[in-house]
Order: sequence, then structure tokens, then C-alpha cells
Amino acid sequence: MAQFSWTDDLYTGSSMIDGDHRKLIGLVDAFFEAMEGNQGNGRMSKAMGDLVAYSGEHFGREEAEMERIQYVAALAHRGEHARLLRQLAELKEMLDAGGKINIPAVADFLDQWLRNHILTADMKLAAALKQQRSSAPVPQLH
Ligand SMILES: [Fe+2]
Repeated sequence: MAQFSWTDDLYTGSSMIDGDHRKLIGLVDAFFEAMEGNQGNGRMSKAMGDLVAYSGEHFGREEAEMERIQYVAALAHRGEHARLLRQLAELKEMLDAGGKINIPAVADFLDQWLRNHILTADMKLAAALKQQRSSAPVPQLH
């Protein structure tokens, strides 16, 4: 069954983003475990709630950085974040309402989404942050 683990290709070079991603991956994994545990929706809903909360915090941190450097691709990147948060919230609502989820499909979706998002959108953002750091004016010492 699915297990999401950190692989070095996910390393963006931004310590904030990478640290957040490791924690995010841990929460996705906890959700996978809850799905596999077959202990009903309660545990899955709790794990999904943790994932939604942390994703919101992490996306907020990335978006604050985008704002700070006036990132050109911010709109599309924020759109991806908002869409995922909506999808996760819908999943949680379904679990809370006692609905059945298609476990392999959900596991696949989460794995694919996170990996693709990191490898495309987050890599570009990390590169822009790095470029901004290297072109920032050096403070004058008097
Ligand atoms: Fe992102």
C-alpha cells in the first residue's frame, strides 16, 4: 500500500520549504496509515484534519515569501494551493458524513499531487527565492 516517503529529488534548497515538506509528508503518511488501519472514518478524519491544518500553515508561509519577492507566478501557485485545500476539506466532510472513500484513489491522488507540486511549482519558487537572495543589495557597513 501507498507510503509517502521523502526522496532526495524533492529537495528544493529552501530550508523553510524543505522542512515544511518533510512534516507535510509525515502527515500524509499518517493519513495513509489511518486508511490502512481500517478503523472507520474517525481516525481518517482526524488525520485529514491535521493534514488540512498543516497544509494551510505551510501554504501561508510559501505565499508570504511569494508576496515578499513579488513572485511572478504567484497567482497560479496560490491557485494550486487553494484547489488542494478545497479538495482535502471535501474529503474530510465526506469522512465526517460517514461516506466511503476510494482508498487507493485517494492515496494515489495525494501522492501524485504532492510530488508533482513540489517538483514543479515549489522548485520554481525555491529557485526564485534563491535568485532573489543572491541579487539582494549587500547592506553597507559604516
Ligand atoms: Fe507550494
